[in-house]
Amino acid sequence: MNPQAEELNKVIQAKNPAIFEMLSERGKNIYFPKRGILAQSADANGTKINATIGAAIEDDKSPMRLEVIASKIDLAPGLTFPYAPSFGRPDLRSKWKSMIYEKNPSLSGAEISLPIVTNALTHGVNMAGYLFIDEGEEIISPDLFWDNYDLILTNSYGAKIATFNTFKDGGFDLDAFSAKLNEGPIGKKVVILNFPNNPSGYSPSVDENKAIAEILTAAAELGNKIVVFCDDAYFGLVFEEGVERESIFAKLSKAHENILALKLDGPTKEDYVWGFRVGFMTYGIKGGDAELYGALESKTAGAVRGNISNASNLSQSLLLQAYNNSDYQKQKEEKFNTLKERYEAVKEALKNEAYKQYFTALPYNSGYFMCVKPVGNIDGEELRHLLNKKYSIGVINLNNLIRIAFAAVPAKDIKTLFDGIYEACKEIKG
Ligand SMILES: Cc1ncc(COP(=O)(O)O)c(C=O)c1O
Repeated sequence: MNPQAEELNKVIQAKNPAIFEMLSERGKNIYFPKRGILAQSADANGTKINATIGAAIEDDKSPMRLEVIASKIDLAPGLTFPYAPSFGRPDLRSKWKSMIYEKNPSLSGAEISLPIVTNALTHGVNMAGYLFIDEGEEIISPDLFWDNYDLILTNSYGAKIATFNTFKDGGFDLDAFSAKLNEGPIGKKVVILNFPNNPSGYSPSVDENKAIAEILTAAAELGNKIVVFCDDAYFGLVFEEGVERESIFAKLSKAHENILALKLDGPTKEDYVWGFRVGFMTYGIKGGDAELYGALESKTAGAVRGNISNASNLSQSLLLQAYNNSDYQKQKEEKFNTLKERYEAVKEALKNEAYKQYFTALPYNSGYFMCVKPVGNIDGEELRHLLNKKYSIGVINLNNLIRIAFAAVPAKDIKTLFDGIYEACKEIKG
């Protein structure tokens, strides 16, 4: 093992040995190189003739650049053309951290890490797998989960996604979660929770959120060492009262020394920048301090450096200027209201009792999506094809569950969409 990895491991073991047990073999071995090229470049900072930099520089020392590109970018060349650090831009990292506290007021008083910048959430989930999952290990998830976890976690790291039933009596199936978490021997557990959920569009109620945290805490109390990936891709898009608005990360960051919460979030959906490819990984654990978080941040940045080197500086700088713009909140609210209007249109359309003959809705209250389940023997794939061809309506069929991305449909078209599903089901039923 590289001595620099050993150094980080020593810090983690001294601060909280449970976290060391949660790390994968890769996670134990990774480190951010403090020596070598990066350190030598840092030493040369401010020299008159600096021949350490791995990027070309103009004679005036600004980044070398093509005017056909620079002319389209209304930001200083130094903010966009050079590499960003593997940890992410320091200004953006501290801004995002302060935004996490603002968006999750109950986190107040809890110490969390500085976020590490990833190439958006997909990459964050992947880096979480890198750091915490060994071949053959289970990752506990509701049975309704984003299908890309299969590629990110199963194909890449050999994880087994161990699912539990998502819904019972119109809410989150807390019993199924507790049973799955407490199955098997006491030891390391990895959990992934994605609220608002893709595909269902469900977020737990305030009470359910509390209960989920309590179930995890009770399991931690028994001696389990639990790392919880909080996939907050759709954070903030909650459309109903009584539904938890904060990330479960807030509760888990304070819960127990045996629970490491890892928040995977970013602007992709929160700020409508799908193609920017910026995300964040932030750690929280009871008793966590700067030294412990520093070691985790170094490991995470090391994993990023070995994987994509660093995320887009242009995207990070664009986002930072947006977060510092006084119009940001107002514009964000406008887009939220547009999505809420679409959500309300879904609720209104589903008041049609006739639909129940052919399909029923799964619980939904947030996010981009909701699902309907065809009743009887209607085949989801046949329904999807018919909707495409005859009704010019596109939906996703997930094992006979029809996922509807209402976020992508103007409110005025929502009723036509559900009427179309109704007509197509009727046709299939003959
Ligand atoms: C639940 C969930 N997590 C993560 C992602 C990935 O987001 P990103 O585009 O930031 O990689 C998605 C995107 O669809 C998602 O639905």
